[in-house]
Amino acid sequence: MTKLETLQHKIDEAKQGGGLKRIESQHKKGKLTARERIDILLDPGSFEEIGMFVTHRSTDFGMEKEQYLGDGVVTGYGTVNGRLVYVFSQDFTVFGGSLSETHAEKICKLMDLAIENGAPVIGLNDSGGARIQEGVVSLGGYADIFYRNTRASGVIPQLSAIMGPCAGGAVYSPAITDFILMVEHTSYMFVTGPNVVKTVTHEEVSSEELGGADTHASKSGVTHFACANEVECIDHLKKLLSYMPQNCEDEAPIYPYEAGNELRENLNKLIPENSNQPYDMREIIAEVCDEESFLEVHKNYAENILVGFARIGGRSIGVVANQPASMAGVLDINSSKKGARFVRFCDAFNIPLLVLVDVPGFLPGTDQEWNGIITNGAKLLYAFCEATVPKITVITRKAYGGAYDVMNSKHIGADFNFAFPNSEIAVMGSKGAAEIIFKKEIDSAEDPIAKLQEKDAEYAAKFANPYGAAARGFIDEVINPADTRMKLIKAFTMLQNKVCNMPRKKHGNIPL
Ligand code: HXC
Repeated sequence: MTKLETLQHKIDEAKQGGGLKRIESQHKKGKLTARERIDILLDPGSFEEIGMFVTHRSTDFGMEKEQYLGDGVVTGYGTVNGRLVYVFSQDFTVFGGSLSETHAEKICKLMDLAIENGAPVIGLNDSGGARIQEGVVSLGGYADIFYRNTRASGVIPQLSAIMGPCAGGAVYSPAITDFILMVEHTSYMFVTGPNVVKTVTHEEVSSEELGGADTHASKSGVTHFACANEVECIDHLKKLLSYMPQNCEDEAPIYPYEAGNELRENLNKLIPENSNQPYDMREIIAEVCDEESFLEVHKNYAENILVGFARIGGRSIGVVANQPASMAGVLDINSSKKGARFVRFCDAFNIPLLVLVDVPGFLPGTDQEWNGIITNGAKLLYAFCEATVPKITVITRKAYGGAYDVMNSKHIGADFNFAFPNSEIAVMGSKGAAEIIFKKEIDSAEDPIAKLQEKDAEYAAKFANPYGAAARGFIDEVINPADTRMKLIKAFTMLQNKVCNMPRKKHGNIPL
């Protein structure tokens, strides 16, 4: 063999991973191989591999006789829609994609490059966890990755697709990254699997129920997306990237946009006259944002708040919106956590925020209080206060109590606050307010019910409108809903060079 032939032979061997039989078995499970996934993710011909010939160093349990070039992870860089990304893709056909010392070193090398060169890291995870034959060096390898995930946090976007098993401490790398995507029925994540659960808590639960995509998308909120299959999952990764800058010093890509008729008459019809009737805030988002641009994040988790990326006039924004169609849009523990994490991502990566408010307040009850609505609600408050990106609020209907302050009010640094004419901005609902402040008058009235109605109406007339707040400048403008999109395009354009510095500090202490 010539030297070139030897090289080609080694490349061919590396591309076989754990061999044809194991590739077949991977396909039979409805899963793609590590390399097939990279092919779908990256622009054709753009992938450059790093460390193709790396092998493990283990000599225990006869491991020296079992060597696979690449050692169970394909790493390298390429482009997605012309933009640089770093990718690692675990190869389940080699020791079940398990993480050895050298497997970890390959991922760390990639992450170091990504941090130094300022481009996103995408992890395609499909692994049986720590390489059991290697013991503590494998655990060390995980910790080396966690350390880099944390150092990279807020510097470059980090996206994790879970496309197979992800169990034990291995879950903590994706958990530190910015977004997790899971594939339905072929991926799962848990700290301890069904067998351990059965031993410890005597619960009988399947892998799917314990840690499948649907569970984490709706119950735990661990995953931001549950995708029907691997191709959809990779498509979502690409879409997500399209809203993000390459790093924290960069701006998100701007899409072509031609100014047209920005009037949206439909916005005058979407909100019911009766302020207790629900409506779908997604319809408002669809009207104000560029057509079909809303990519909802955490769709099935804490549905009383909506978060997601969109574009206005071609520019990326992050949308945070109360959802009156779910629990009247009330803020609770989960919705506060969901909102806070999203706001912090947007702020870290220079993505302006649009906040749509229709909130009756915080959810009352022992469940909420005992589980820490105080600390958790404070997360959302803190996240908005801390965010220095352009921040615009539109109150579409209710803004009551502490939730008015929390939902990006003028007082906590919003740049522009709009309100629709039907807005109710007050300490509490008019009936409850009347019952408290006119209690004596109502109790002593000949007809207490009529008196309550009279006082309720009196309070509503005074406070259930946006004009008190507008008189103080808490609301910058009360607008015709049909003009919202036009107003937002102008305001976000006006704010595009915003500079706002926080007081010097090491880091804040968000109530975790
Ligand atoms: C070494 C492993 C491995 C591992 C799987 N394999 N997991 N090799 N270390 N952790 C190998 C198998 O021996 C097998 O080799 C091949 O990968 C495929 O595995 P199968 O069991 O045949 O596949 P499947 O039936 O699909 O089951 C997949 C699985 C199962 C559910 C992941 O393999 C499994 O339970 N593995 C052990 C998981 C585990 O306990 N990991 C350690 C967790 S603790 P051949 O040669 O037959 O192809 C942990 C701590 C991390 O990860 C801490 C970080 C801080």
